[in-house]
Amino acid sequence: MEPRIYLDNAATSWPKPEAVYEAVDHYQRNLGAPNGRSGYREAVEANRIVERARLGIARLIGATAPKEVIFTASGTDSLNMAIQGIVRPGDHVVTTVCDHNSVLRPLTALKETANVSVTYVPCDSQGFVSPEDVQKALRPETSLVAVIHGSNVTGAIQPVAEIGAAVNNHPALLLVDAAQTLGHFPIDVDALGIDLLAAPGHKGLMGPLGTGILYICPGVEEKLLPFRLGGTGTRSEEDRQPEMLPDKYEPGNHNLPGLAGLAAAVDWLESQSVEQIHAHLATLTVRLLKGLKAIPGVEIAGPPTEARRTSVVSFRIVGYDPQEVASALEATHGVQGRPGLHCAPRMHEALQTLDGGGTMRLSPGWFTTVEDIDRTCEAIATLAMVATH
Ligand SMILES: Cc1ncc(COP(=O)(O)O)c(C=O)c1O
Repeated sequence: MEPRIYLDNAATSWPKPEAVYEAVDHYQRNLGAPNGRSGYREAVEANRIVERARLGIARLIGATAPKEVIFTASGTDSLNMAIQGIVRPGDHVVTTVCDHNSVLRPLTALKETANVSVTYVPCDSQGFVSPEDVQKALRPETSLVAVIHGSNVTGAIQPVAEIGAAVNNHPALLLVDAAQTLGHFPIDVDALGIDLLAAPGHKGLMGPLGTGILYICPGVEEKLLPFRLGGTGTRSEEDRQPEMLPDKYEPGNHNLPGLAGLAAAVDWLESQSVEQIHAHLATLTVRLLKGLKAIPGVEIAGPPTEARRTSVVSFRIVGYDPQEVASALEATHGVQGRPGLHCAPRMHEALQTLDGGGTMRLSPGWFTTVEDIDRTCEAIATLAMVATH
């Protein structure tokens, strides 16, 4: 079997830093206690771990206080919490054709059940949305603008600061899906004018699957209804969900093995620095784009250069179904990526790649090497040669 070249970091990052595995193992073997419920030694230690992760993420995104960071089960969970907690019957929501099904599907459900209307802002041929189009879509009854930061199909980075400025004079809240950027790009929620920031803990943050975060700007908690209710270990004499953060949005026992891993991952991220990670990914992206452009029969979907993009790269080989490309790349060279629609059907419609099975997506991560990229380009070149002869 070919050695594994994992280029599916847009789905979940792998491998994780060694410290993440050690932290999960340490929690499972030596602590095994819930946090926020009891005062014995291991429970106190569990509490410290959760609060260390919260503090680290707050620092990373420029939140003013750790309690503004809520732990969730995934990026999807965070987006549902934001959308279903803000949008009320009869409201209008603005989103974009670049957004993921974890935004599109909750919105469609609200259209069908709560008389909510949705505007899907278009993008240009490279996958970029214009802030003017977002502004023009606003209506008096718009309560939410939900925008993806980095596309999980094209890698295009949307102009979130400009969109934030455009939404600033309107009462609508700005929700940003940072699933593909948090940990890879510096994000400052204040500078970008973000009210709600949703992200998984298991992609760029390098934590385990089963973790996610939702940042809530101070004041937004007055409008954001809790998505699930239950015990918090605080105000237990009351039937009502406590109003204080983070308890309002974190009922039930936490995913402590996951959060132990996430705490270690965030420590690791801080020690590497997001800037350094970004620089490494940019080097890999330049090389991958250059390699792909040199192969006859390969068509890149999305920004053709490294400017304003992440390391997510989608392409097609003329004459091949993306599923065939994925199978052949793994079988011949051990290259693992993701073919298909990537849970973003409107994005593929806009790129005109919906028919024909979407695209093949490659997404390098921190542990990807230049040699991995070169080997991947060789594999694609060999495949494309077969198709064009
Ligand atoms: C842009 C985008 N948003 C949301 C999600 C959902 O994140 P999760 O897989 O953690 O539910 C993903 C993951 O694929 C994504 O790429």
